[in-house]
Amino acid sequence: MTHFLDIHTTTPADLRQMIDTGRAMKDARKGRPKGAPDDDLPLAGHMVALIFEKPSTRTRVSFDVGVRQMGGQTMVLSGKEMQLGHGETIADTARVLSRYVDLIMIRTFEEQTLLEMAEHATVPVINGLTNRTHPCQIMADIMTYEEHRGPIAGKKVVWSGDGNNVCASFLHAAGQFGFDFTFTGPPTLDPEREWIDFARTKGVEVAIERDPNKAVDGADLVVTDTWVSMHDPESAKERRHNQLRPYQVNEDLMARARPDALFMHCLPAHRNDEATSAVMDGPHSVIFDEAENRLHAQKAVMRWCLGK
Ligand code: CP
Repeated sequence: MTHFLDIHTTTPADLRQMIDTGRAMKDARKGRPKGAPDDDLPLAGHMVALIFEKPSTRTRVSFDVGVRQMGGQTMVLSGKEMQLGHGETIADTARVLSRYVDLIMIRTFEEQTLLEMAEHATVPVINGLTNRTHPCQIMADIMTYEEHRGPIAGKKVVWSGDGNNVCASFLHAAGQFGFDFTFTGPPTLDPEREWIDFARTKGVEVAIERDPNKAVDGADLVVTDTWVSMHDPESAKERRHNQLRPYQVNEDLMARARPDALFMHCLPAHRNDEATSAVMDGPHSVIFDEAENRLHAQKAVMRWCLGK
């Protein structure tokens, strides 16, 4: 079974193939209406379940549109409205869904839910975000960087803010695609040690720099994300804002990066908290290309999962 569960558990060769396929598929349908089918229809006759236990705009719409462009059909399921949310086990849910659909994408809270779904499903499972990682987002981000600036290997990526699930998948990508990674943020919000070690064992440089001004020196790409993730308690909001305010990506900080540095944010953003509107809408920003590339990168991920 070819699941897409995480970047660090997928081979660099497969990841590269997916990025290149996503770019080729994007090029092949340039100028077409979004609802027009692709030339080849690799998902013709295929049914895809999209399960959401958390809110989503980009993941939901990009997967749904991507499946349809490739000739397949989707059903979007809310975790709360399924028996999964009322006591049915993940294992039984996985076995049942596998009798109806050819592919499952799930956005959930605990990583264990994703892993159990994959263990018991007899169709491929895709990670649409857990509390721990967000691999589909980073596939789109790598594709976006390379579209604008060429190969990401050997570049310096700086993450400013919370070492959250998106940061985790960026660290995995550093190891698998071969770029250096600097985290700048408060010590209590460092990325997990396991992910830092993963990237380092692949031979790339991972640095922790508490001073954001020093961190972005020489950066090819500056990335941030919301200060309060979907799984963080509302009660933590004020403390997190106070801790993270020095790590806001603003024009002064971007000016310390390389002149051709890009700025990324996976969205949704809280404008003028983690990044100013001047940066988000400024000349370095590629945030809406990232959002678009969720569609193209995930189409390649689905093809890979289904051996198409
Ligand atoms: N970036 C991202 O995953 O967006 P959604 O939460 O809207 O899916």
